[in-house]
Amino acid sequence: MEKLIGTKNINTAVFISGTGSNLKNLIEFSKTKRSKFQIKIVISSNSKAKGLNFANRFKIQKKIINYNNINRAENQILKSLSENKIQLICLAGFMKILTSKFIKKFKGRILNIHPSLLPKYKGLNTHQRVLKNNEKFSGCTVHYVNAKLDGGKIILQKKIKVYKKDNPKSLAKRILKQEHILYKKALNKILSNF
Ligand code: GRF
Repeated sequence: MEKLIGTKNINTAVFISGTGSNLKNLIEFSKTKRSKFQIKIVISSNSKAKGLNFANRFKIQKKIINYNNINRAENQILKSLSENKIQLICLAGFMKILTSKFIKKFKGRILNIHPSLLPKYKGLNTHQRVLKNNEKFSGCTVHYVNAKLDGGKIILQKKIKVYKKDNPKSLAKRILKQEHILYKKALNKILSNF
């Protein structure tokens, strides 16, 4: 039987570590008619992550993971994911690196958003490096997660102009706005044949 558009049938987990503006964006999108997913759980590697407030506000289950021991941390995450029948993981400012063992269990089902035009500027401090190199353009990328840091298959990218007057903060702000648009588009793209 053909699936109904708007059926909230993809159980999704969002992983965060910080502010959570992408989380908020995904929660709001999940509640619109167009989306085909529901956010069942928010996983945070940081008990002080501001983004946890959005889980509270929207009454979404949240789980804070102590990352002192990575194996134990990932086992705890896997347990929560299985209890919630999670099918899709969206990383949104998650500052921990998932092991290849973990990634294998969710192969092709983990997305990440990165604030650069990958494959350029993988890793941290992207905006500082972009400005230092006098790049004319930067942007953001939604990609699948594989065992290589910020190296998985690209789903969508958005390019923006870098201005002479930009500093890391102004560039980050402009790119973040685009991230919010891009993550929704990328989800629509992959969920149409999920
Ligand atoms: C975003 O720029 C995202 O691309 C990067 O970390 C930042 C998280 O921002 N991976 P927020 O916590 O979603 O506001």
